[in-house]
Amino acid sequence: MSLHPLSRRLMAPEITALKRVKPIVALTAYHAHTAAIADKYCDFLLVGDSLGMVMHGFETTVPVTLEMMIVQGRAVVRGAKRALVAIDMPFGTYEESPSVAFRNAARVMKETDCGAVKLEGGRRMAETTRYLVERGIPVMGHIGLTPQSINVLGGFKSQGRTRDEWAAIEEDARALADAGAFAIVLEAVSGPLAARITEQIPVPTIGIGASSHCDGQILVMEDMLGLSPRVPKFVKKFGAVATAIEDAIRSYAEDVSEGRFPAEEHTYGMKDEAKGAAPPSPQATKKPKKLST
Ligand code: KIV
Repeated sequence: MSLHPLSRRLMAPEITALKRVKPIVALTAYHAHTAAIADKYCDFLLVGDSLGMVMHGFETTVPVTLEMMIVQGRAVVRGAKRALVAIDMPFGTYEESPSVAFRNAARVMKETDCGAVKLEGGRRMAETTRYLVERGIPVMGHIGLTPQSINVLGGFKSQGRTRDEWAAIEEDARALADAGAFAIVLEAVSGPLAARITEQIPVPTIGIGASSHCDGQILVMEDMLGLSPRVPKFVKKFGAVATAIEDAIRSYAEDVSEGRFPAEEHTYGMKDEAKGAAPPSPQATKKPKKLST
């Protein structure tokens, strides 16, 4: 085996090792340029199937395809040099059987060069998680609110807010950790339950709307930037990007309409003429037509 210098991209076991060492910082990312910025500050980036809602305007994540995940996954891997990149397996590509999940997850890994995949579901996904991990595919779990099951859940509803819901979610977390998941996303889970799960399991919990008790936090980047038109209650807007974009587009439209853009400095002159010389008239530069004989 020849040895190539490994890139200093974090790997799944290094994310696991951060539990109780430092809060894990993560964001979703879908493009190369935003991934490059987030890479400086995040331990891992998730190419979430939320891209269906954020980038494509779908109402749920259900219509997202493997091809969509692979195209955006490649972009994020190109942009991020240090953070682990995990990619969501979209609805319908892994639930059927462990071998179907392996085939599709292996395709995602080969075609994007990402470092892990994420599956939604607790106990029902434990066997598949074990199957993938044993065959070389790091798996991040995702329990609590699992948006791909929206049609069964009946809406984007917070979870574990009554004590009778706790046991099932705790069992989900334990089953995934036992099966080898390297981290588990807890989505829209009550704070006290998130605290209990974080205490009980040996791998990091990554909260999204699941309180400060988790080992790490993730948000959808467009939500925290202030770009998404509607966001869940648990999102803090750290920016006002929609306003910044609208201000810029309005200025552009005004400048074009009023002839202020493009100006001299945005215009290519001729290389072989003195700066400031008037451009020759199109007539003067026309080649004389060949006379037909
Ligand atoms: O798709 C996504 O963005 C996610 C996060 C909400 C964790 O799964």
